[in-house]
Amino acid sequence: MIRSVFKGSGSALPPKLMSNHELATFVETSDEWIRERTGITHRHIAGEGETTGSLAIAAARAALVDAGIEASEIDLIVLATATPDSTFPATATKVQAALGCAGGAAFDVAAVCSGFVYALATVDSMLRTGLAKCALVIGAETFSRILDWEDRTTCVLFGDGAGAMVFKAEEVAEDGPGVLASRLHADGRHKDLLFVDGGPSTTGTVGKLRMKGREVFRHAVVNLAEVLEEVLDQTGHTAADIDWVVPHQANMRILDATARKLGLPPEKVIVTVDRHANTSAASVPLAFDVARRDGRIKDGDLVMLEAMGGGFTWGASLLRI
Ligand code: ACO
Repeated sequence: MIRSVFKGSGSALPPKLMSNHELATFVETSDEWIRERTGITHRHIAGEGETTGSLAIAAARAALVDAGIEASEIDLIVLATATPDSTFPATATKVQAALGCAGGAAFDVAAVCSGFVYALATVDSMLRTGLAKCALVIGAETFSRILDWEDRTTCVLFGDGAGAMVFKAEEVAEDGPGVLASRLHADGRHKDLLFVDGGPSTTGTVGKLRMKGREVFRHAVVNLAEVLEEVLDQTGHTAADIDWVVPHQANMRILDATARKLGLPPEKVIVTVDRHANTSAASVPLAFDVARRDGRIKDGDLVMLEAMGGGFTWGASLLRI
């Protein structure tokens, strides 16, 4: 059978670090409040000249090196972001130009924090149906640019970064590697719980992020536990078979609650929210890349990727590395 087989990963973070203590110098908060409620200690913030596109390009280059694949082999780039460099063209086309692999398809996906899972499911469908052979899936964000730095209920939660994964369509055995299943969902009735109050077609401005955090939290735990069960059912696996869960890194308490609901031991959950905060669509590939490079995620492992974000949108993918 043809599957989308993982070939390599890469990530990029802006060098500038912002600690909770630094935040507390200009907004009424404390290191203790942020750590207790979210697990975050610091985040990376894009500096002058650093953009979603530049972070995406750096992550994509690292992923190609890791995969041992030439840019000329890439015939599909799907980039998940809610903070593109421009309204158009798609930031994916900027990545394509920088890598020098013109000719294949390149487009952005907007599903906010679930963007990477949406992008991966899209790429998987395209690879399995022969629309492309070798793809870069990227999550990249500069949320620092859409934060209201005077709103302590949101500005402490987010950071900037990018992650990328390379997938290739290959003939494999039933028990071989590749993306085994994905499930995607959205419920637009909740679009006003987490949104940006601007846009090209409404205000003509970029806008700032607004969120009802407590309600988002409640929905996140329920939706994520359900979609993980769905993907497991679809593949005939149980939670006990999973080697690693790579969740969207929104908040330590959401990660703990979801793991508990599934009966997964916390040591199987990859956590980077403490150092990266919530990097939206970038968080899943960033956390995945960290865990692969430090030797935790290995070839043959069964890995669950999952995310939930504004819309609401949510989804999960199970892959054999
Ligand atoms: N520092 C100090 N105090 C604060 C801060 C802050 N940064 N932010 C809020 N507070 C205060 C509030 O004003 C409130 O004060 P009050 O009781 O005097 O009114 C008090 O702390 C409690 O506020 P709550 O919002 O009820 O706090 P809660 O325990 O719900 O924690 C949080 C807030 C961390 C945002 C939590 O709701 C959460 O994690 N929600 C999930 C949201 C999320 O992660 N979204 C990311 C995008 S979606 C996704 O990725 C899944």
